[in-house]
Amino acid sequence: MTARIMNGQETARRIRKQLKEKLQTLQIKPKLAIVLAGHDNSSQIYVRNKQKYASEVGIETQLYAFEDDVSVQTLENLIDVLNDDRSVNGILFQLPLPKHIDAMKLLSKVNPLKDVDGFHPFNMGLLQNGDFDGVIAATPKGVLRLLKQENIDLTGKNALVIGRSNIVGKPMAMLLLAENCTVTIAHSHSENLKLLCAEADVVVSATGCAKMIKKDWIKKGAVIVDVGICRDENGKLCGDVDFDEVCDVASYITPVPGGVGPMTIAMLLENTVEAYLKQNM
Ligand code: GUN
Repeated sequence: MTARIMNGQETARRIRKQLKEKLQTLQIKPKLAIVLAGHDNSSQIYVRNKQKYASEVGIETQLYAFEDDVSVQTLENLIDVLNDDRSVNGILFQLPLPKHIDAMKLLSKVNPLKDVDGFHPFNMGLLQNGDFDGVIAATPKGVLRLLKQENIDLTGKNALVIGRSNIVGKPMAMLLLAENCTVTIAHSHSENLKLLCAEADVVVSATGCAKMIKKDWIKKGAVIVDVGICRDENGKLCGDVDFDEVCDVASYITPVPGGVGPMTIAMLLENTVEAYLKQNM
């Protein structure tokens, strides 16, 4: 078997094109505030890409950059200003934030209607209730969009989510549960991950361990989604999954790069447009 590749790059391009056309038709220009604290290399690249694609579809961005030692008070004051500013439709704090900041506590101060990342407890709570009227975190939303696009039947399937973060693992598990999967969440303390993998019809991996998931871990015909962004022994970008060999046993697989990454940005842009529309209904 050679797995069908779920091309996130192409799907994301199509979604951005549709968003651009929608914004042109409605003659609106949503505004997204992006907050970046510190000088993390990867975060700077992600933010630059978010700004680039936002601009391409017609979303204005405003970047607020701070040093590593920015105080919680400063960020809370900024949130107050952005919450009150009617011209700002979305507020995004690029994670991770510096260690002295409790990110989830800080993000709970953002107006949930402007929480385009879907990290506010209100939006996470809605998702947990199976209510999709809130904002859904961009990465898991993008993963589900890719699975839906391929018409993959999820009902009754064993889904293994590897990673229990608030921004990927937990919301991903909730989305798969809503699709009637039997969901297992594995994490760094889980025993016998290989055995859990062997039973999974769908694996969504978000560990950041380069090429950890091997061919002999995977059930034949399984659907493999790789959220990891890692570097291999040669410094080349790769995922959690050993793509070349897992391709031989999986039925569907996402590549890294060009899989989940572009979908995350496309879903962020979609969330920003939806936030604008909700705020201006
Ligand atoms: N850092 C890693 N992933 C994300 C994401 O989806 N949103 C934000 N704001 N920061 C991140």
